[in-house]
Amino acid sequence: MADFKILGISGSNRAESFNSRLLSLMALKSEPLGISINIIDAASFGLEFYSAEVEEKHGLPAAAVSLKRAFKSADAILFATPEYNGFPPGILKNMLDWVSRRGEGEQSPAEVFSNKLVWVISTSPGKGGGARAQKFLATQLEYLGANVQKQTVTIGGARDFFSKSDSTPPDITAMIDTFVRDMHQVLSTNKPER
Ligand SMILES: Cc1cc2nc3c(=O)[nH]c(=O)nc-3n(C[C@H](O)[C@H](O)[C@H](O)COP(=O)(O)O)c2cc1C
Repeated sequence: MADFKILGISGSNRAESFNSRLLSLMALKSEPLGISINIIDAASFGLEFYSAEVEEKHGLPAAAVSLKRAFKSADAILFATPEYNGFPPGILKNMLDWVSRRGEGEQSPAEVFSNKLVWVISTSPGKGGGARAQKFLATQLEYLGANVQKQTVTIGGARDFFSKSDSTPPDITAMIDTFVRDMHQVLSTNKPER
C-alpha cells in the first residue's frame, strides 16, 4: 500500500493532453517511492458552470460533492495546468469555484483547501511551458488557503517531448526525478492529517 495518496488533476480536457501525460510520468516515477497519484482531468466529473441559483435551489451537484471528497481524502494535490492566453483554462477555474463552496457539515467555505499541500506544474508547446498559468493558479490556490509549494516543473516545447518519441529525454527525466524526490521529502516531513 502507498504511504502517500496524491490527487493529480489535469486542467486539460484533451484526450492527448500533454499535461495529462506529464502527470502520468509523475505517477510512474512516484510509485517506487510509495506515492500513489490518482489522476483525474478537470472534465471527468462533468461539472456544469458554477451557478449561484443552482446552488441555492439544489445545493452542490453530486459531481462537486465527489470532488470535494477526493480533495479531502488526498494527502496532497498535484495540478498540471495548460496555459490558455496566459491563464489556466476556464474548466479548471470552474472546478475550483465549485470545490470552494461550503459543503454539508463544513465550518467554512474553501475548507478542503485549508493547509492542503499543493504542487502546480505545467507543460505547453510554447517556450514558456505554461509558467504564467502556473503562477496564476498558484495565486488562486494560496488565496483559497492551500499550502502551495514553490518547487515545480515547467516544460516548454511539449510537442518534442510528448509526441515525437516514446522515450523521455534525459534532461526531462532528471527534472521529474528531482521533483518527485523533493515531493517525497516534503510529504515525509509534513505527513498531513486525513
Ligand atoms: C485558447 C487557447 C489559448 C492558448 N494560449 C496559450 C498560451 O498563452 N501559452 C501557451 O504556452 N500555449 C497556449 N495555448 C496552446 C496550449 O498550450 C496547447 O493547446 C496545449 O496542448 C494545451 O495543453 P494540453 O496539451 O494539456 O491540453 C493555447 C491554446 C488555446 C486553445
